[in-house]
Amino acid sequence: MLLSVGTRPEIIKMAPVYEALSRIKGVELFLVHTGQHYDWEMSDVFFSELGLDEPDLNLGIGSGDQVDQTARVLHEMGKVVENYEPDAVLSVGDTNSVLGTALAASKLEVPFIHIESGLRSYDFTMPEEINRRVADHLASLNFAPTPRAFSNLNEEGYPPERIVLSGNTIVDVVEKMWSTIRRSNILKELGVVEGEPLMTITVHRKENADKEYRMLGIVKALRELDELTIVWPLHPRTYKRLKAFGLLSELRTLEHVMLIEPLGYIDFLRLLSASDVVATDSGGVQEESATLKKPCIILRDNTERPEIVELGFGEVAGANPSSIVSSVRRFLYEEEVRRRIEGLPNPFGNGTASKMIAEVLWRIWDLRSLRHESPHFKGGSPHYVAFKVEGRSKSRGMTVSQFIEVTGYEVIAIYDPSGSSLPFSPSTPLMDGEIVRVRGDPSNYPKLAKLIGG
Ligand code: UD1
Ligand code: UDP
Repeated sequence: MLLSVGTRPEIIKMAPVYEALSRIKGVELFLVHTGQHYDWEMSDVFFSELGLDEPDLNLGIGSGDQVDQTARVLHEMGKVVENYEPDAVLSVGDTNSVLGTALAASKLEVPFIHIESGLRSYDFTMPEEINRRVADHLASLNFAPTPRAFSNLNEEGYPPERIVLSGNTIVDVVEKMWSTIRRSNILKELGVVEGEPLMTITVHRKENADKEYRMLGIVKALRELDELTIVWPLHPRTYKRLKAFGLLSELRTLEHVMLIEPLGYIDFLRLLSASDVVATDSGGVQEESATLKKPCIILRDNTERPEIVELGFGEVAGANPSSIVSSVRRFLYEEEVRRRIEGLPNPFGNGTASKMIAEVLWRIWDLRSLRHESPHFKGGSPHYVAFKVEGRSKSRGMTVSQFIEVTGYEVIAIYDPSGSSLPFSPSTPLMDGEIVRVRGDPSNYPKLAKLIGG
């Protein structure tokens, strides 16, 4: 099986899956790094700290614009898939590396398996929203981290029997690495006194880092929050943009803000563990905050991880300085809010995601059986038909239950001519102009055809 990683969070989240799969006898793993992230502190450090084998191959993709980077992953990964002929290709997350890998495997008719599927921000200005939507729908099998993610896929017509609710592997990583944080000297190195109010902040999303007004908003908020010690490990994108916007020098004048290089995993986890509040636009850091029961202020206008907000772990504060400041202070000072967070369940799972993923893959070990099988239309899997009730159609006036009895097809949805979905029950009659979506066994199609024809 080919396992693909490309960026910091993919390496971290794939590590326990690699470990769980490598315990299965007779399974050969081929680990490919696309090279999207390449600095030691964005890549190598995680292999050594998380005990992950060195990649068998690095494609050296590096940085580039959205189109170029994705196209190069597709091109280079295509060559690897063709040469290595894996039974399946496995990726985690929503980066350009994941999209390029999903496309390469699918084009070469090798089953693509996606971990961390079904997340949706409904914001198409994010490259990740495009990547995850395409990757999920190309996948022969999706591992959804939360019930919401599971139901998002269902809602989009992805067949439920191809979705496994696994939890997020980040929880497995945090649990495994928790005991190692004792080794970290990061607090001492930074001169942070435990017990004094501390905030960790990370920012790297294109929609923040590349926009001057948003970075300015975040910097203004940090300036005001001077009752806190603030540690900011800078992602290379953010470092470059802050410098270009002239904000780096301003930040350096703030005594309560420490700008540091990106941290290795053990140090970062140690820093989070000592933090009273976390401010971030990162996906993984949101999940880690919930896992460690730390309040999380989301420096974005939306999140594909709404569980954080719904359960009360944090708030979406955007990049507006006053909303960031008031959010941080609310979660820092309101005792009741903090106490509530301590009692919340972790929406991202219980640390068994990678074990479950490995077990599911082991059970269907003949991964080639996933090949060529369109999840929607081939025999055995759901077969959908949609038709309009019109003209002399015999379905006109029939109730939903009569229709089901005659055709053997299940009615999934009824829409009015404008496309709005209509509520229905077994006694609802099918009316002229309505569009009906049905699902059933293709062998019953002739019965259906007789009713839906004019
Ligand atoms: C990428 C992912 C994002 C993920 C993030 C994890 C996409 C579209 N984005 O964003 O979903 O959350 O990784 O961190 O795939 N750079 C370096 N050294 C490195 C890597 C990057 O200096 O090792 C700099 C380069 O200037 C590069 C910039 O960072 O142009 C952005 O890197 P890139 O991988 O394109 O996007 P990320 O912002 O890291
Ligand atoms: N992380 C780290 N060092 C840092 C910042 C983040 O090890 O200095 C880890 C963090 O613990 C999380 C992951 O990187 O597991 C998140 O990566 P990132 O924020 O780059 O990407 P995202 O999760 O948003 O895709």
